[in-house]
Amino acid sequence: MSKNFDVVVIGGGPGGYIGAIRAAQLGFNTACIDEWKNEKGGPAPGGTCTNVGCIPSKALLQSSEHYEHAAHSFADHGIGLKDLSIDVKKMLARKDTVVKQNNDGILYLFKKNKVTFFHGRGSFVKAVDGGWEIAVGGETLVAKQVIVATGSNARALPGVPFDEETVLSNDGALRVGAVPKKLGLIGSGVIGLEMGSVWRRLGAQVTVLEALPTFLGAVDEQIAKEAHKAFTKQGLKIELGVKVGEIKAAKGGVSVAYTDAKGGAQKLEVDKLIVSIGRVPNTNGLNADAVGLKLDERGAIVVDDECRTNLPGVWAVGDVVRGPMLAHKAEEEGVAVAERIAGQHGHVNFNTIPWVIYTSPEIAWVGKTEQQLKAEGRAYKAGSFPFMANGRARALGDTTGMVKFLADAATDEILGVHIVGPMASELIAEAVVAMEFRASAEDIARICHAHPSLSEATKEAALAVDKRTLNF
Ligand code: FAD
Ligand code: NAI
Repeated sequence: MSKNFDVVVIGGGPGGYIGAIRAAQLGFNTACIDEWKNEKGGPAPGGTCTNVGCIPSKALLQSSEHYEHAAHSFADHGIGLKDLSIDVKKMLARKDTVVKQNNDGILYLFKKNKVTFFHGRGSFVKAVDGGWEIAVGGETLVAKQVIVATGSNARALPGVPFDEETVLSNDGALRVGAVPKKLGLIGSGVIGLEMGSVWRRLGAQVTVLEALPTFLGAVDEQIAKEAHKAFTKQGLKIELGVKVGEIKAAKGGVSVAYTDAKGGAQKLEVDKLIVSIGRVPNTNGLNADAVGLKLDERGAIVVDDECRTNLPGVWAVGDVVRGPMLAHKAEEEGVAVAERIAGQHGHVNFNTIPWVIYTSPEIAWVGKTEQQLKAEGRAYKAGSFPFMANGRARALGDTTGMVKFLADAATDEILGVHIVGPMASELIAEAVVAMEFRASAEDIARICHAHPSLSEATKEAALAVDKRTLNF
């Protein structure tokens, strides 16, 4: 006997579980299917984000930041420490606890919102009268509407599979049992910089090999330069413009042959190698072919601007479709789709999706970069304010970086805000709100900001657009 639902969501990551909750809130009889297993084989909803992404990486970034402060900054505050050590096993256990709290939280939210949860792999079977038949673990569900939110997997280098012992994806990178002496990373993107920072702080000698000649090409150039300077000063070795050649992995370590930017043959010998060269959309086991679900050449499910696939009543959201691979983008799409199914006008504004890289200093931005505005030939004004001139940053002892505003030359509308520095991840929210409401730089400059706070740097950068900073 089949079980009937108004909405079946396949995938319980941020796109799927949030979409399912919103659908249930809107009165739909909703199910969510997720196959992720915890160590004991039980359900672990939350997807990549909760299990091997956002949450565990931030837990380790926090632990390693505490360690770094204890090792390098406590003395400035007059705090003495003897015999500082790191218990990696305990750090990993804490990270696992944080992950489990999130898994359990999602199961609780499903109950609270009356979402029926199925633990297993969901696959399309066929179109049926008024919907779709979905198989999961020996059961058959019939759904009027289906939301596919099956996420993404780490991309491997051709011929170099992840063994998660010496050649690591994000999964293995979050489970390294002892601080490696030498750690190599391929790709200086978001994962490379975050995971590289974790293990460098704990004492690893870290080398990052990046194919592109520019560092963080998607980031505003001025901000990327400032970040590069800070990371290099911390001891992260970043080689740009390399061509990775043969990789030989053995039990004891990995050797990476590569050509450097000048064309010289080089070899990197490391204990562990993290390959972080992007992610690929995941439709494994979905049986997409059998029902004719259209994929593009990258394997992403093809959707229109509103996340409709080529199949009637089938939607797709998150990492498995086009657009940035970010948890909050997936969530916004999940909510918008549920609202569209209810006949409402769900909307995701791609211009105001914030990006954050949780390194130290943190990097965060929203909207256009200066190089994008130049390429578009748009007349703009720029204003920036260094944390060096911010009282709270000085008190924190963290004065690296700046806030930078880009505004339309004629209307003063904010076109982009870029931050490198302390708590950039939190500060960016004000800029997102401002841009969502199409505020001008003057609007922010005229708002009262608490003193002393890092947010005053945001106000001052807005003032800088009109060349009238008060504290610099
Ligand atoms: P996923 O989270 O990948 O979830 C998909 C779920 O579907 C998984 O549980 C999977 O098991 C399940 N599934 C797949 N196929 C089936 C099937 N057929 N049947 C049943 N279940 C299925 N983003 C941020 O915004 N901020 C961050 O700080 C951040 N940090 C990250 C750190 C790392 C190391 C990584 C790897 C990623 C990070 N991301 C971050 C990206 C973020 O994790 C993804 O953008 C987000 O998880 C995408 O959500 P999703 O719901 O589309 O897919
Ligand atoms: P990425 O796309 O951020 O970076 C990949 C980097 O690898 C690029 O700089 C690319 O030029 C480089 N590269 C590609 N092929 C290469 C090769 N053969 N040799 C050397 N370099 C090569 O991808 P990453 O870091 O794997 O992360 C995947 C995605 O996960 C991110 O794009 C992001 O969407 C998400 N994520 C988000 C985080 C956040 O929001 N804080 C944290 C971590 C991941």
